[in-house]
Amino acid sequence: MNIASSISNKSNYYIHIEEEFGAHNYHPIPVVLNRGEGVFVWDVDGKRYYDFLSGYSAVNQGHCHPKIVDTFVEQARKLTLTSRAFYNDVLGEYAKFITGYFGYNKVLPMNTGVEAVETAIKLCRRWAYDVKKVRANKAKIIVCSDNFHGRTSTVISFSNDPVSYERFGPFMPGFEIIPYNNLNALSEALGDPDVAGFLVEPIQGEAGVVVPDEGYLRKAKQYCEDARVLFIADEIQTGLARTGKMLACDHEGVRPDILLLGKALSGGMMPVSAVLANDEVMLTISPGEHGSTYGGNPLACKVAITSLTVIQEEKMAENAAEMGALMRAELERLGSPYIGVVRGKGLLNAIVIRHPQPDAAWQLCLTLKDNGLLAKPTHGDKIRFAPPLTIKKDQVLECVGIISKSLSSI
Ligand SMILES: Cc1ncc(COP(=O)(O)O)c(C=O)c1O
Repeated sequence: MNIASSISNKSNYYIHIEEEFGAHNYHPIPVVLNRGEGVFVWDVDGKRYYDFLSGYSAVNQGHCHPKIVDTFVEQARKLTLTSRAFYNDVLGEYAKFITGYFGYNKVLPMNTGVEAVETAIKLCRRWAYDVKKVRANKAKIIVCSDNFHGRTSTVISFSNDPVSYERFGPFMPGFEIIPYNNLNALSEALGDPDVAGFLVEPIQGEAGVVVPDEGYLRKAKQYCEDARVLFIADEIQTGLARTGKMLACDHEGVRPDILLLGKALSGGMMPVSAVLANDEVMLTISPGEHGSTYGGNPLACKVAITSLTVIQEEKMAENAAEMGALMRAELERLGSPYIGVVRGKGLLNAIVIRHPQPDAAWQLCLTLKDNGLLAKPTHGDKIRFAPPLTIKKDQVLECVGIISKSLSSI
């Protein structure tokens, strides 16, 4: 591995043991972190950075949010896991809280984001057979090109990114890929009576923060309703105030039939995901037909309640909307020849780098790191700028200054 010379011996040590003994399934920016607080993280040499990735939007509430940490520690001392073989005194409280918060009849708790996606696929298929009366084993789910919904073998079966699926087949059938942000393609695909669901990211995060046209989600939901097809919103990255509303679907007044949440549901403390739906969908699954040892554990449930509470208490959606608009305006104002596009919503933003050198975005991220800001390219030339939602105006301005300075040196 080619590690930049600005890496200290101490950092090198950690990077090399990870390389030697860990699988090579990631290609991290060469920085070794050991502390986080709010919008900042520190490396093992004590250098401070702005975190512009926020754990892929898992740390919306800021690193080590004191209220979430307190909840975590308090519950960890009391009871962490019962499994669902027994009741515990937190899951019911959490289920009541989160269903009230988002306005659904029921929640099914899971852990990672991709487990929530898997759960939605199973629920959607089961609903298709039991309620819509689709022919046995023929249920189809429509998805979009350039999607990212996780890494399991079912979920990569409907990825069109060869890096995700190549040489991992055979693949799970029952999915149709249509172009994103294309209502005609959706309308045509919905003509098939075996279609059970439409699984969509309200903004495609991993694809490089691709924001669909205004009205796309609203019309797509209407088309799904007309065709009696479930509209499944993967808000694992876009949800929980990241885009300037509690859910990205809220920008268009869309209420998904199945809502998927993850990441910031625990403020970065542990894997916590959730599937929300009404009884017609959720009650198609009976005891023993789906579950997870850790799903709904009391530690996760308590942490999720506090994580959701602080988002509202601290008006993080409002701040994301305001600071995001400021960030995009300031980035545009730089007028850099190396920025092809600035796009995003709230604090889920990206720039597309315009530069003849194919690894320019990676090189820029290394320079940003040296200048005190951490970001990571996605799909080669795109860099996501997604700081914790607690970022303040002077900090946004300082960060745009760092970005400007870094751009001038590529
Ligand atoms: C939209 C979306 N769905 C699902 C996932 C998968 O989540 P996890 O990595 O927790 O399985 C991600 C992760 O980046 C995501 O962005």
